[in-house]
This record gives sequence, structure tokens and C-alpha cells, in this order.
Amino acid sequence: MTRPQILVTRATFPETLERLARHFDVQANPDDTIWPTDALARHLQGKQGALTTGSERIDAALLAACPQLKICANMIVGYNNFDVQAMASRGVVGTNTPDVLSETTADFGFALILAAARRLTEGEHFLRRGEWKKPSFYRMFAGAEVHASTLGIIGMGRIGQAIARRGARGFGMTVLYHNRARLDAATEAACGGARYVSKEDLLRGADHVLLVLPYSTATHHTIGAAELALMKPSATLTNIARGGIVDDAALACALRERRIAAAALDVFEGEPAVHPDLLRLPNVVLTPHIASATVATRRAMAELAADNLIAFFEKGRVLTPVTPIAPTTAITPVPSVAGAKENT
Ligand code: DGY
Repeated sequence: MTRPQILVTRATFPETLERLARHFDVQANPDDTIWPTDALARHLQGKQGALTTGSERIDAALLAACPQLKICANMIVGYNNFDVQAMASRGVVGTNTPDVLSETTADFGFALILAAARRLTEGEHFLRRGEWKKPSFYRMFAGAEVHASTLGIIGMGRIGQAIARRGARGFGMTVLYHNRARLDAATEAACGGARYVSKEDLLRGADHVLLVLPYSTATHHTIGAAELALMKPSATLTNIARGGIVDDAALACALRERRIAAAALDVFEGEPAVHPDLLRLPNVVLTPHIASATVATRRAMAELAADNLIAFFEKGRVLTPVTPIAPTTAITPVPSVAGAKENT
């Protein structure tokens, strides 16, 4: 019996590759080359499955060039690299990796809130530059309180809820949230009595605003100049969701003019490029899209993506679908660790 052929589009854990190789003929990318679309389509020729990342855009043109492709298993929770409609209309299944990264990503989100509020990297850069010449004085890098302040979370999926719990239980914060839909009362209570408010009320009321909503054309520039103008001058903004949710140029302008106090960004419009104005500003903490990056969590994400491929080809089902399953594919979604939609 011929084995399915799989493309692994980016470098990943050797043990995940070894596991996949027990089930499939695998073409890996150990050099971690970023393939432009035409090269990706070439590498996908003859492949029925792919282990993908956010670097690969899976759209109608690519699918037309790769008619034998049946499944793309993202090694990440976000799936804005998938054209879900195009995949669904060709009967191509898409999956992601929810849940396994929620707590780890929430830890990092909280680290960024603290870093921005307490001016952590600004102080460190000052010290490394050799500018710490006399003992600390009363206003040296004085920042904003985090404990007992108001946390505003836009996007109250699994990660947003995990951050709300940290804020409410660990730091005694009042939690406001805005989301596509209001959470049920039990979930709000478990999130420290989180209060559902309009986006505008959240921006006006929060001391620390955190973005953790999925990216789509509808959420593009959720935060731009008008929204930044609503925030308190003492407030911070943290984005661990996706580049494009914040208008980075407008944010740089607001930070430069001190219309908000500070920001922390793990994701950027057009990353890995970073808006040059942000690079020049002291009051923004910048990290290279690493919110889920612990060894254990990245391993769990790779393994869940592999689980999806194996389940698809061997059992005719997947664990964490993000595309509707076309009736002709005879694939039964297994409701296990994930709901498919609002899963960041
Ligand atoms: C995710 O899993 O979506 C993270 O942002 C990593 O890309």
C-alpha cells in the first residue's frame, strides 16, 4: 500500500519528524527555508498533507496548483494563514493547535504587561549602555501599578480567560473584557468577575489593555489612532494576538507623543519587519512573536499537528478542525481539546 506523502514546511522537533515518518513519506525542511508561494507549490506537488505554520499562505491559487492536497495541519493556534472558504470549497481540511499553548501564552502576555508597566526593558537598556552612574533616585524608571489596577482584555477566548484569571487572582485586578459574544456567567465568575463592556468603555477604563483576538479583515486595525485617543495617558497596550490588529504607525505616534504611557508587542504588521519608529522608541517592549515559545509547549503544538495528520489519514477524522468538514470527505471531527472557531 502506498503511504501518504507529507510536506513539513518549516523545521520542527526531530522526534515529531520521526513519528511522522513511521506513518508517511515525509519531506522535511531542516534548513528552515522560507519558501515563496511558487516554491511552496513546487514542494507540495504529490503531497496529500502538510504540516504548516503561519509562514505559509494556503489560498485558492495555491490549492489550484496542488489539487492532490487534502489537509493542512497548522503547528499554531492562529489560522489567518488559511483561506478557510477556499479550503472548504475544495474539501481541504485545516487544523490548528488550541489549548496546548493557552497557559504558556497567558504567562507571556502577563510578562509583557508587567514589562511595559514597570519599564523593564527601558531600565535594562539604560543599565547596559553604562548610563547608571549614580544610585537610583526617586523617579528613576517609575512606572505604573499592575496590582489592583484595571485590566482590559479584547478577545476573551481561552488565552484571554487565562490572563484574566492571572490578573484577578494573582494581582487583584478588576477585569473588563470585550469579545464577539458575552461569556456565560460561570465563565465570567471564573475569570475573577470579568465584566463585559463595549470596546470604547474598555479603552477608557483600563489601565492595561491586552489584545488577544484572532486576526481577520474584520479585526484589522482594531486599535488605531481613534482607539488610542480613548485610552488613559497612563495606560499600557499589549498585543500578543497578531500583527495588523494594531495600526503600528499610529501606535508609534501615540507612544512618541506620550498619549499612552507604554506598549508591549510580540506581533507586528508585516513581521518579521518591525515599524522603524517603534524600534527607536524607549517606551515599547518588543519581542519576536514568542508568546508560546517554551520547549514543552512548542513540542505539544508540533505533536498535536502530527496527531491531526495521523488521525486524518488513518482514522478519517481530525482532532481540532478549523474548516468545515465537507460531506464528501467522510471525515468526522472529534470534539476533543478544541472548539474550532474562537480558539485563541
Ligand atoms: C499561534 O499559535 O498562533 C502563535 O501566535 C504562534 O504563531
